Amino acid sequence: MKPDYARGFASIHEEQPQVMASLQGALPDWLQGTLFRNGPALWHAGVTPLKHWFDGFAMLHSFTMGQGKVSYRNRFLQTPDLLATRARGRLMHPQFASDPCRGLFKKVVSMFVSELGSNPNVNVTQLGTRFLALTETPMAIEFDPETLATAGLYNYDRDHFGGQITSAHPIVEAGILYNFTVGLGKSSRYRGYQTQTGPRREFAHHPTRHPAYLHSCALTPREMVLWEGPLVVQPLDLLYRQRPYIENYRWRPELGSRLILLDRQGGSRALELPPLFVFHHVNSFYQQDTLCVDVLAYPDASIIEHLYLDRLCAPEGPPVPAPRLTRVRLEKGGPVLEVLSPVSLELPRIFERQGTPYRYVYGISQRQSRFFDALARVDCQGGEPLLWFEDGCFPGEPVPVTSPDHRQRLLLSVVLDCARGQSFLLILQADTFAEVARAYVPAVVPFGFHGGFWPTQRGFSTSL
Ligand SMILES: [Fe+2]
Repeated sequence: MKPDYARGFASIHEEQPQVMASLQGALPDWLQGTLFRNGPALWHAGVTPLKHWFDGFAMLHSFTMGQGKVSYRNRFLQTPDLLATRARGRLMHPQFASDPCRGLFKKVVSMFVSELGSNPNVNVTQLGTRFLALTETPMAIEFDPETLATAGLYNYDRDHFGGQITSAHPIVEAGILYNFTVGLGKSSRYRGYQTQTGPRREFAHHPTRHPAYLHSCALTPREMVLWEGPLVVQPLDLLYRQRPYIENYRWRPELGSRLILLDRQGGSRALELPPLFVFHHVNSFYQQDTLCVDVLAYPDASIIEHLYLDRLCAPEGPPVPAPRLTRVRLEKGGPVLEVLSPVSLELPRIFERQGTPYRYVYGISQRQSRFFDALARVDCQGGEPLLWFEDGCFPGEPVPVTSPDHRQRLLLSVVLDCARGQSFLLILQADTFAEVARAYVPAVVPFGFHGGFWPTQRGFSTSL
């Protein structure tokens, strides 16, 4: 029998028009706005199953809160990948770990025309007045925040910035979006960029002989920080690939890791570190003159293997590896690493602005299940962690929300309740993990990745 959480990886085929959620508890009056979530929701191309959690076709979800009520809607992103797949009844574009069946010539052509990856199923962000769905290829897709309808590809005013790979974790600071691309070629490099609404502008780049799988970055007032772990690819292997995208990457611990610092005023440097695998940077900041970089670090990249659906949903198996909050301090004598907590943590969020000192990290955690079955608050200063869990419940990324008067801090997490066969929006007090409210929707919300909360008054209205 499949594990109970496998319901969160079942394909859904029907969209849910706006419905009222069943609310238990009372919403604070100030909580008015929309939580957007992005994630895969359809792991089939025709009748063929896709292989990996990260492969599924993107669906947007919105939970709109206000007037004491919560409404929910979802909608598939009408991506070129999904439309082509539906039209032909089979996978037409390469995904993270699933490839369409085709000859070498077409694989080469697809690489040159950046056909790879117009399935932004990882995150959402706002750029100017536009809402974008993001993945790890530079092709973002714009959507309508009211209806979740797909508006079309977003092309940064056709800036021809280049780079085949990017991160779905841009950092927005004072209306400016910071992110990076990975340019693969004879000379590969990482390029930090910023943009306000239109063309991207490079502020620094750094060459690499071993381009790595990078998922996120950190940002201080002085630099962008990239953890370059030793999960690396030969660009020609991608160009002529005989296997799906991620299977071209190799874990090469002998290379170690590097911390790449891209100076926001130009210039860059790299520091050598032990071989660890990182999806998520948590934060980076200065303590006096010492740069601290906090990441969720795995001993190796086997987490990617564990997230293949046949393995994840097998009746038995080992737990999914979970990383630990790890701090790198760049001291004069060299980098010093310290594991800050034994608690497992993924999909990290903090309340503070990136680049500023902070104390608590919030994320999903493992307690008794093979998958993530708890929310945790980890104290960087060594205090006792806080946990939220319920039997048969599997929470997603906790999104921080601060009240307009800065007195209350809440977490919003979409939880799969296996016993009820429904998902609910959980609202917790961030400082105590006491439940404020929960709102059940008449559906399972498949396990997604990232999202954000936008207050109603900022940029668009929401109707309930
Ligand atoms: Fe992520």
